[in-house]
Amino acid sequence: MNYGTSHSPARVQRAYLFLTAATFIGFMVGLTVLGCGGSGKADDEILIGEYSSLTGTAATFGTSTHKGAMLVVEETNAAGGVLGKKIKLLTEDTQSKPEEAATVVTKLITRDKVKAMIGEVASSRSLAAAPICQSNGVPMITPSSTNPKVTQVGDYIFRVCFLDDFQGAVIAKFVFNTLKAKRVAILKDVKNEYSVGLAQYFTQSFSKLGGEVIAVQAYSEGDNDFKAQLTALKAANPELIFVPGYYTEAALIVKQARDLNMTLPFMGGDGWDSAKLLEIGGAAMEGTYYCNHYSTEDPRDVVQNFVKKFREKYNETPDAIACLAYDAGKLLVDAIRRAGRTDGPQLRDALASMKEFNGVTGVITIDNGRNASKSAVILQIKNGKLVLTETIRPDQVAAM
Ligand code: PHE
Repeated sequence: MNYGTSHSPARVQRAYLFLTAATFIGFMVGLTVLGCGGSGKADDEILIGEYSSLTGTAATFGTSTHKGAMLVVEETNAAGGVLGKKIKLLTEDTQSKPEEAATVVTKLITRDKVKAMIGEVASSRSLAAAPICQSNGVPMITPSSTNPKVTQVGDYIFRVCFLDDFQGAVIAKFVFNTLKAKRVAILKDVKNEYSVGLAQYFTQSFSKLGGEVIAVQAYSEGDNDFKAQLTALKAANPELIFVPGYYTEAALIVKQARDLNMTLPFMGGDGWDSAKLLEIGGAAMEGTYYCNHYSTEDPRDVVQNFVKKFREKYNETPDAIACLAYDAGKLLVDAIRRAGRTDGPQLRDALASMKEFNGVTGVITIDNGRNASKSAVILQIKNGKLVLTETIRPDQVAAM
């Protein structure tokens, strides 16, 4: 090949085509910008912001959220929209970082002027962005952040999932009553609000039941060698190890434990919920348990219809996060409809008064703390599949 000649006819032709295309794109971008800047275009759409971890250590959390939320957009717009307008989702990537969550949420509010916000999954990132939504009067619904502090940020912050005090009690009850384990060790992520909180709530409930947390070890999100912590926990000889963290580290932890010939049962919280858990952990995950927001085995119509629709569109089974994002989106559209407008205060009031919304992840009633009280499920990994083991309702742990 001759790289020396820069004016070969083919090159000139390519350059010409490139310039033509560039001019055309530039022209179109110009038109779009003009269109959006004027009053016309923006008025026939309702803009909703979504901030999600589309990349980074918790990437499946964000991609699942987006898939669930997009189904709501498609369904709503296919049915004519809401308040006579189409809804449009503006999605920003948090890269699985709290600082980035704050940056992109500021952008969505000040630059794009979104009317409401959906996100994040991880409690640490919701906590970083919620104060920005609160101070700007933009209602935020987190589909899946379970740490109690998130909705305490203020009266514009809502969630559609259960809370970690409940989740901690559910896991304690299951470990103590069903698995009959009395001496448990914990390996938690100290950089993660969710992990630290869930470890604490579990410990409280477990001691109340008469169990004992005999050893605790720590790691930080992004670590990939857990042999030292596991060796220390092994020496304490627990009957089970609880790992309240996210799927990437949890899978590596269980895998490395099996390499150390630790055959005891492992249990996690909802942070384990990702197809990647099995991809990373493989056969080591067999027999482990985790707490979650929904099971594909739930026979309710709303669940079965959603699972079917999701599989048809994405060719995969939805994880809990996709279901929670779908519920959050549906609830928001319903609130916009009931509010009759998209102003912050009215929309907030409509969200606050949501009662008995029949969601995929359960029936959602927003309480005075802007939270939802719902059942949790315990899943076990058997033959590489998630099997529903137990369902625990709020009233079953309230008495504990
Ligand atoms: N509950 C977790 C948190 O608050 C996030 C999560 C929800 C992860 C559901 C997986 C499934 O950080």
